[in-house]
Amino acid sequence: MKSTLAFLFLLFLTPAALHAESGYNTWLRYAPLDNAASAKYREAVPSILAVFGTQAPVQSARQELTDGVRGMLGRNLRQESRLTGDSAIVLGTLDDLRKLAPQLSLAADLVPDAYWLKTVQRDGGTFTVITAQNDRGVLYGSFALLRKIAIGDPIINLDEKQTPGAAIRWVNHWDNIDGTIERGYGGPSIFWENGRLRESLDRVRDYGRMLASIGINGVSINNVNANTRFLEPELISQVRRVADTLRPWGVKVALSIDFSSPRSLGGLSTFDPLDPGVVAWWKSKVDEIYRAVPDLGGFVLKADSEGRLGPSAYKRTHADAANVIARALKPHGGFIFYRGFVYDNKMDWRNLKNDRARAADDNFRALEGSFDDNVVIQIKHGPIDFQVREPASPLFGTLQKTKSAIELQITQEYMGQARHLVFLVPMWKEALDFDMRVRDRRTPVKSLVSAFVGVSNVGMSESWFGNHMSQANLYGFGRLAWSPDLTSRQIVDEWTRLTFGNDPAAVETITGIQLTSWRTYENYTGPLGLQTLTDIVGNHYGVAVEASERNGWGQWHRADEQGVGMNRTAASGTGFIGQFSPGVARIYESLETCPDDLLLFMHHVPYTHVLHSGKSVIQHIYDSHYEGAETVAGYVRQWKALRGRVDDRRYDEVYAQLEYQAGQSIVWRDAVSNWFRQTSGIPDAQGRVGRHPGRIEAEAMSLSGYVARAVTPWEAASGQTAVECETATCTATLRYAGEPGWRDVIVQYFDVNNGVSRFRLWVGSQLMSEWIADDRVPTRRVDSSSSARRVIPGVALRPGDEIRIEGIPNGGETAALDYVEIAEAEN
Ligand code: GCU
Repeated sequence: MKSTLAFLFLLFLTPAALHAESGYNTWLRYAPLDNAASAKYREAVPSILAVFGTQAPVQSARQELTDGVRGMLGRNLRQESRLTGDSAIVLGTLDDLRKLAPQLSLAADLVPDAYWLKTVQRDGGTFTVITAQNDRGVLYGSFALLRKIAIGDPIINLDEKQTPGAAIRWVNHWDNIDGTIERGYGGPSIFWENGRLRESLDRVRDYGRMLASIGINGVSINNVNANTRFLEPELISQVRRVADTLRPWGVKVALSIDFSSPRSLGGLSTFDPLDPGVVAWWKSKVDEIYRAVPDLGGFVLKADSEGRLGPSAYKRTHADAANVIARALKPHGGFIFYRGFVYDNKMDWRNLKNDRARAADDNFRALEGSFDDNVVIQIKHGPIDFQVREPASPLFGTLQKTKSAIELQITQEYMGQARHLVFLVPMWKEALDFDMRVRDRRTPVKSLVSAFVGVSNVGMSESWFGNHMSQANLYGFGRLAWSPDLTSRQIVDEWTRLTFGNDPAAVETITGIQLTSWRTYENYTGPLGLQTLTDIVGNHYGVAVEASERNGWGQWHRADEQGVGMNRTAASGTGFIGQFSPGVARIYESLETCPDDLLLFMHHVPYTHVLHSGKSVIQHIYDSHYEGAETVAGYVRQWKALRGRVDDRRYDEVYAQLEYQAGQSIVWRDAVSNWFRQTSGIPDAQGRVGRHPGRIEAEAMSLSGYVARAVTPWEAASGQTAVECETATCTATLRYAGEPGWRDVIVQYFDVNNGVSRFRLWVGSQLMSEWIADDRVPTRRVDSSSSARRVIPGVALRPGDEIRIEGIPNGGETAALDYVEIAEAEN
């Protein structure tokens, strides 16, 4: 009877769990394991949890193990604070265990944060020991044990020591005090709201737990474009509340600061870093903050970049600026992360020798060796700005005596803004594994940096990122910062099992999509080192091929009628390549050896230049765009096969996101291909570009109320034109002239964010579909960012059928249409 009840209970539990996951619990779901797996672990997990030590992170570890074992195995661990002789999981720092559980005879040499999972057999009992040099490490070890259980790794006979790849593993937030987030795509700030800290810090607590589970030990909680208010007493007391909330998770708080604070906040007449008054101001301000937050991690500083004030105002160096603050932090053990992202955004684009990619190395090379030892130069992984493909920044190789951090962007600014699925770990690994050949020896970037920083920008959306799949990037960042040698596959396999369960089909499909997604995105955005061909002076989202050109921002690709690419060679170009060590420079300098993926980042070539692949540059541009869009269509098909294997809610949400991405990849494909076709004058050898059988431009339909308008940039709309509704209701009508049969009717329309238009599609007098345009894409303009797609599948059409679309505008939205495409029904 009992077992029948248990079975019924399970039956009830399982579908419930399958149907209602919001994504809030990310990879920490502790979902019940299937019967076979839980039977295995129930045998291996003892019934006692013996906890030594009262430190907050050790207590967090205790709670986590209790919840995790209960969730996954349905067992309530008995809590003890001593060893009874019975088998137990044992939790405590090495120091505490040596003192309080000497019978376990534990001895190990561990660095801070490193942990040791060790099975000890003693007097007939089996003890699964989780220990570390510090309390934070005990927490990390506990998460590691739970991870093993969740993904099916053995937990018997353990003897595993794990040491972090770098001592400092932080995330940065670009959160503003009003609650907005610069380049945040998962909703408003979890920290700030309306000029102050949120009342409830529950989210912050849960975020701390997430960070701890992947080994992150610090977080800066305000935008690098820093508001001086964060150093005011009122804000400092609010920062203290955040620090108190995150401390049990071993996560330190850090602040972004404004370099002009001594003047703008302190009322001094100067912020010259060598002025004694300024030196004293920083010292006393730092002392004041540390009185409130004794374990503050330190500061992040963006100076002399994108309009931020810096030492150049007084003709001082970055070292002068960093050191004055470093010296104030030093007695407290704090670090200053000084951003290497310093460049002139008003460069003359006509000068072919100018090059933003040179900026970081040009600015810091001469200062090598003049920074204090608690200064960390925080370097973006590439020399430009988180583009879809960049080489590793040469500055990593330049700085030998100065500490450096690699800055990776978890939030997907130029990478589809969490609307496109793009798993970034493979890209980061290329940067980390890149061999800088310093002094002609193997020196991968990961061996040169002493810290990892990820720009996280999670928000209040239930899934933290606004896209379930984007969570893999935060997970991957933490795992890489801890173990830079893990492969992308290992990381995504772990993440998938933890986040979606161990169903083999789900694991295979999700890992397969994630692992190919960066290349796919690159294929339909900017291949060959062109960079993301997006609107770089606007929202950084939709396609706008020329937005990078003829302005001072320096993200130039210099495509014109003759050819494409930035000549960065030492011989005849900007000399950027010469910033690398000779062993690397040699490879990039020569067209023979420069990898195709970076060709146009390093060289200017004619469109007919033949790649190592044997294709011409122009044909590669066409092919990769078609391939990219085709691959995303494949992702949608693969995902459909997972219905019932992933809980319904997340299944539906990911499905909708992938469908949207499939539509956007076509927008990108057409825009970039048409732009290069028109500019180069060279047709696509496969005849696809500019030819769209089955596509009827809206402007060619018979229109009532709709008015045709040119779209800017022209490549953002098919036929360079959209129709917009200027009255209360408009219609666009076409007569089907194809063969009779089952067809998918695709409507390409525009969905801006300042209105909710309505659409209806009729075939003859039959209403086939109706929908609203209520998406919140980051634009009010009819352009590629707002371009959206509605697929009406399986419509039986006969020649002569009238297809009519009715659009009803709303607010600033004009129910705009781009085209209708009629295709063979897919199913
Ligand atoms: C990018 C981004 C900015 C950000 C800057 C930075 O340029 O678009 O929003 O402030 O990087 O990293 O400082």
